[in-house]
Amino acid sequence: MNRLTYYALAIFNISVTPIVQEISPPKYHHKDPETSERLLCDQCPPGTYVRQHCTAARKTECSPCPSNHYSEHWHYSQECKYCSVVCKEMQYVQQECNSTHNRVCECIDGWYLELEFCLRHRKCPPGFGVVQPGTSESDTICRRCTKGFFSNETSSTAACQQHTSCHSLGMRTAVKGNATHDSLCYQNTEASTSKCEIDVSLCEEALFRFAVPSELAPNWLNILVESLPGMKVKEANLDRIKQKYNSQEQIFQLLKLWKLQNKEQDVVKNVIQDIDLCEKGVLKHIGHINLTTDELLALMQSLPGKKVLKDDIKSMLLVCNSPKHILKLLSLWRTKNGDHDTIRGIRHLKTKNIPPAVAQNLKKLIRFLHSPTMYRLYQKLFLKMIGNQVQSLKAGCL
Ligand SMILES: *[C@@H]1O[C@H](CO)[C@@H](O)[C@H](O)[C@H]1NC(C)=O
Ligand SMILES: *[C@@H]1O[C@H](CO)[C@@H](O)[C@H](O)[C@H]1NC(C)=O
Ligand SMILES: *[C@@H]1O[C@H](CO)[C@@H](O)[C@H](O)[C@H]1NC(C)=O
Ligand SMILES: *[C@@H]1O[C@H](CO)[C@@H](O)[C@H](O)[C@H]1NC(C)=O
Repeated sequence: MNRLTYYALAIFNISVTPIVQEISPPKYHHKDPETSERLLCDQCPPGTYVRQHCTAARKTECSPCPSNHYSEHWHYSQECKYCSVVCKEMQYVQQECNSTHNRVCECIDGWYLELEFCLRHRKCPPGFGVVQPGTSESDTICRRCTKGFFSNETSSTAACQQHTSCHSLGMRTAVKGNATHDSLCYQNTEASTSKCEIDVSLCEEALFRFAVPSELAPNWLNILVESLPGMKVKEANLDRIKQKYNSQEQIFQLLKLWKLQNKEQDVVKNVIQDIDLCEKGVLKHIGHINLTTDELLALMQSLPGKKVLKDDIKSMLLVCNSPKHILKLLSLWRTKNGDHDTIRGIRHLKTKNIPPAVAQNLKKLIRFLHSPTMYRLYQKLFLKMIGNQVQSLKAGCL
């Protein structure tokens, strides 16, 4: 016998087996009004009612329930029940009434039934997480976050979350988490890394902003992009810079990005080496100043614009060594204020609450960064690097 025939027979065998199940209805006693005979009548099935009781000659006659009426079980009543349930405020019809079931209402999403009314699900406050979300019948169950977990929101759905493990992200913990706050890691962004890196030093900033002619040729930015050695700044980034910044700022942003992109390249290393001379000059002016935390905070408060937050300054102190404190503070302050011109900003320093020596040295520093030395540096490095095209433009503008 081949396999096909075998299956065909198997199916045939099953399909011809007749399953007949006789349902015998439940009975009820009924006295025939004419003969006074005590009869045993059939009950009517769900969805119907007794239209005529049985007689000695006839079986019970059942009819379907009229609309808006139902009967749920076998019974011998001469009417169906009315679909009495009406959905109330904050409820929706979960099952419409039909011939066998009354209407079923349920609280809408986010609400549950308490006695007769729908109430809103409880929200767990910060420090507490949802262990069981509410249903249409039950409220949210909240529990305090255990050690290692936190919830920083008021929510009827959010569970406690595990604290971020700074260690597994290759970072150090700046602030340990608790029940309401996640741990904070030292941020690993351009502006601040665990190595106290400064994205754009004061010398670079002076140079990059110096490179901006006071009157810009319309395509200056594009010429610069084409002329810069090393990895080119991508079109998309250039578009973003053009959209976000005014024309003076665009050059600074472009050079900053170019520098970050080409940090490891020789072309830039050549530039950086010479900039190192300038950096030494900067350190000569402010490197020996050793400020206490309070003095650094006072310095921040004395600078114009948006202030770097106290906590951020404290985090900075943990990763930076003392000669870099002021420089890093100024770098954070620049970033905080949307990359404003640091050197111009320092001019508006209020000197009242900071040590006089600091104010004096900062003033000297500004003069240094605007000195002929800086212009020579600009000529030596930048014009040579970018080429004659830009040189002529720059000369034309000066
Ligand atoms: C009537 O509604 C119930 C649920 O409420 C459902 O189980 C049943 O199949 C429905 N009957 C008909 C005839 O639609
Ligand atoms: C949790 O830590 C935050 C800062 O990370 C702090 O402001 C808050 O007071 C702390 N809460 C408790 C209960 O310790
Ligand atoms: C809650 O913590 C997460 C993770 O640290 C953070 O992204 C989010 O902004 C915080 N939300 C509030 C309201 O503080
Ligand atoms: C700066 O002062 C602190 C204490 O105020 C001291 O521990 C540290 O060695 C000083 N650093 C320098 C470079 O003088």
